[in-house]
Amino acid sequence: MKKFSIVIAGGGSTFTPGIVLMLLDNLDRLPIRQIKFYDNLAERQDHIADACRIIINEKAPEINFVSTTNPKEAFTDVDFVMAHIRVGLYAMREKDEKIPMKHGVVGQETCGPGGIAYGMRSIGGVLELIDYMERYSPDAWMLNYSNPAAIVAEATRKLRPHSKIINICDMPVGIEERMAQSIGLKSRKEMVVRYYGLNHFGWWTDIRDLEGNDLMPQIKKHVSQHGYSLLEEVEASQHVDASWMDTFAKAKDLYAVDPETLPNTYLKYYLYPQDAMEHEDPDYTRANQVMDGREKHVFGECDKIVERGTSEGMTLEIDEHASYIVDLARAIAYNTHERMLLIVENKGAVANFDETAMVEVPCIVGVNGPEPLVQGEIPRFQKGMMEQQVAVEKLVVEAWAENSYQKLWQALTLSKTVPNARVAKELLDDLLEANQEFWPELH
Ligand code: NAD
Ligand code: G6P
Ligand code: MN
Repeated sequence: MKKFSIVIAGGGSTFTPGIVLMLLDNLDRLPIRQIKFYDNLAERQDHIADACRIIINEKAPEINFVSTTNPKEAFTDVDFVMAHIRVGLYAMREKDEKIPMKHGVVGQETCGPGGIAYGMRSIGGVLELIDYMERYSPDAWMLNYSNPAAIVAEATRKLRPHSKIINICDMPVGIEERMAQSIGLKSRKEMVVRYYGLNHFGWWTDIRDLEGNDLMPQIKKHVSQHGYSLLEEVEASQHVDASWMDTFAKAKDLYAVDPETLPNTYLKYYLYPQDAMEHEDPDYTRANQVMDGREKHVFGECDKIVERGTSEGMTLEIDEHASYIVDLARAIAYNTHERMLLIVENKGAVANFDETAMVEVPCIVGVNGPEPLVQGEIPRFQKGMMEQQVAVEKLVVEAWAENSYQKLWQALTLSKTVPNARVAKELLDDLLEANQEFWPELH
């Protein structure tokens, strides 16, 4: 059986140890001969790499482990690039969240002005990874979950149209896990779904069990009362903090707007921006929570592993829900034809929507990559929202490619989260100032 070689780009990510543990736990499904870490910040990656070297040596010593900041060393001889970079680190995420809030606008990692600012930073970083992959391992596939995935996906469609990159998000996976639990199923894999939207902007239209029985009525009943909150919380996902619990509860109000469908939780930033802001302390946003929570925990644990020379007693856990990444790699490697929600070029999958939009829809995945499943025509409400949002995303990519201040101003003006063109311009000037090091020069 072929054994695979994988490079994790963004080796210094807080998610890397959980993903490595997940890969080691899935070796029977996806045999691995080599794991490499690549990052552009050695000091950060070293903490994670030194600990993961010990973990890999203990659990699967036959796997060759490499940690490097050298693109040639990282991208040569690999089958898959698993990419989760954060250009600008949490320091810039904090600004993405806090600057909009100063203007009375939602401050969020991937939605609204924060997502636009992050997009302007991410595009160049992800294109660079694609170029390294194509230079050093032209047959490899990139499985990308670097955010903001919607903007990154549009940028790669437009600027690297032939590249073997698949963009994927874990939010539907996490929500489906909760839906399954809410009606007493063991796993989301007991459900088959229909869904359409953009990344962090979509709706489920049909959910059935494997025999084809309609599960929507039961799930809707739960969501109408509790949103995606569970009566008994099980700690099986990354979405465990109090702020996530608020988000899951809020799905009840999202559902009320269109009881024909079930909503992605991220719609709260577009449909109830003021409510979302009420829950936020403008001086202590999600970035602060993550730096004081996940980042401290992961880096602290990694340093302890290195000090002790063993992973015994560590509190790092397998990121079970990240096994969707193995499902995706397997689908390509073994032509499994697994059905998965992916971010792909529309090409008619949503019949009454822009052919060139990057949409999130169920796809069948095999050796040739994803084949989108047709979701048909969508209703006016969702279509209206998606037209507006996809225009924002396309304008951001055009602004990046054409160095256009004007288009970025238009993107911000068009975002449903921003009240008017004046606020959009004030926001743009603040974001521009904060992002000088990262954005292309705008004229
Ligand atoms: P993090 O800051 O802990 O890790 C990101 C790493 O990327 C850092 O070590 C950083 O040095 C590195 N990096 C930045 N720019 C780079 C570049 N140009 N080349 C190589 N490496 C670079 O961030 P995190 O919270 O662990 O998240 C990582 C990424 O994964 C983010 O983009 C986040 O939004 C994304 N994410 C996506 C999903 C999804 O559903 N798609 C889920 C979780 C996280
Ligand atoms: C979900 C989304 C990701 C996002 C993450 C943020 O998983 O799908 O795209 O990056 O949430 O989580 P955090 O814990 O960093 O706020
Ligand atoms: Mn996501």
